Amino acid sequence: MAMASYSVLLITAFFLFPIAFAATSGIFPAFKSIYQFGNSLSDTGNLLRWGTMFYPADKLPYGETYFRKATGRFSDGRLIVDFIAAAANLPYLDAYLNKNGSFAHGVNFAVAGATANEREFFDKRNISYDEFKPAILEQLEWFEKYINSTCRKDCAEKFGNSLFIFGEYGGNDYFPAFQQGKSISEVMSYVPHTVASIIHGVKRVIQHGAKRILVPGPYPFGCLPSQLTSSGTDKADDYDQFGCLKKYNDFAAYHNRFLQVALSKLNRQYASKGVVIVYGDFYGGFMNIFHNANELGFNHESGSLVKACCGGGGAYNFDKAKPCGKEGSSVCTNPKAAVHWDGVHLTDASHRHISQFVINQVASKLAL
Ligand SMILES: *[C@@H]1O[C@H](CO)[C@@H](O)[C@H](O)[C@H]1NC(C)=O
Ligand SMILES: *[C@@H]1O[C@H](CO)[C@@H](O)[C@H](O)[C@H]1NC(C)=O
Ligand SMILES: *[C@@H]1O[C@H](CO)[C@@H](O)[C@H](O)[C@H]1NC(C)=O
Repeated sequence: MAMASYSVLLITAFFLFPIAFAATSGIFPAFKSIYQFGNSLSDTGNLLRWGTMFYPADKLPYGETYFRKATGRFSDGRLIVDFIAAAANLPYLDAYLNKNGSFAHGVNFAVAGATANEREFFDKRNISYDEFKPAILEQLEWFEKYINSTCRKDCAEKFGNSLFIFGEYGGNDYFPAFQQGKSISEVMSYVPHTVASIIHGVKRVIQHGAKRILVPGPYPFGCLPSQLTSSGTDKADDYDQFGCLKKYNDFAAYHNRFLQVALSKLNRQYASKGVVIVYGDFYGGFMNIFHNANELGFNHESGSLVKACCGGGGAYNFDKAKPCGKEGSSVCTNPKAAVHWDGVHLTDASHRHISQFVINQVASKLAL
């Protein structure tokens, strides 16, 4: 009898926590350091020191939940890279442009707004941007400057025992095109170029000695409050069960399939050299939250998971004229129960869940 109720309890617990998470710290191999390349999804303070911020991640309420001050991270708290660093028992990565940064355990080269493609790519397609951010090639140049000014010949050995996180890239290559009225089919033609830029970047870090590379793909764009606000329709058929716009989710999935095919090929190409390249399923981690929202404690006070916690109002609490942190915006009372932070970026709580989802999928493959 006692046994029976014990197993009932176990079964209940299993359904309550649909994903059995490993401990959040120390589950990764003993990486010496982490090197991150990317955009606002992983920027820990580069844009803050580089240029102008459209979303004021240099001020509260950015950072309010975890750091209790703004750090330049585009969230109320930690990013996925912070959770990955913790899981590898390493300190959080300082931004490359932080003059006071400590880089003994890695460097973060990610810059909010960064694209995979170069400036000319957008000019050629008549896509304008407010301020062009250091894209993959410039981030790689920073990386090479870092090599030249630090370990030079010894770098390769250190990099061989490190984790490289290359991305997410892609969102910033597509959002301006969508906003400027390009059709989905036209933007689909950008995907091979975007993925080729990413693959080129991954090859460059491998040439410098990287052996463990995680390459994440973008979130389902159609679930982002920003996309829902700019592209909403009055046709119920355009939305999925969660209120996300299907065609933008399909677009992100298309990019991710294209990326995965390219990564498999790259993996085969470098396998004999002991290099392991794995895809980071941010898309799947995000959807896993929606599928298990109640069990995971996501329960936005408005009753809508596709509503931003911080923003300037409207159906999705997203208003481009009143972004989170600027006059006219307000913050939800419980960011820990919200998926979306400012309408483009996610909360500390979402990042925690997605990082655990991804870590569970890739940790054993990345073993040194
Ligand atoms: C670097 O640290 C010093 C001493 O802690 C501080 O005075 C200075 O403002 C910092 N500089 C930057 C750019 O953060
Ligand atoms: C470029 O875009 C602008 C406005 O976005 C438009 O007026 C112009 O005709 C476009 N040019 C080409 C060559 O498509
Ligand atoms: C790094 O050093 C190499 C060899 O001296 C040089 O060719 C390269 O241009 C340097 N790269 C950067 C970004 O400074």
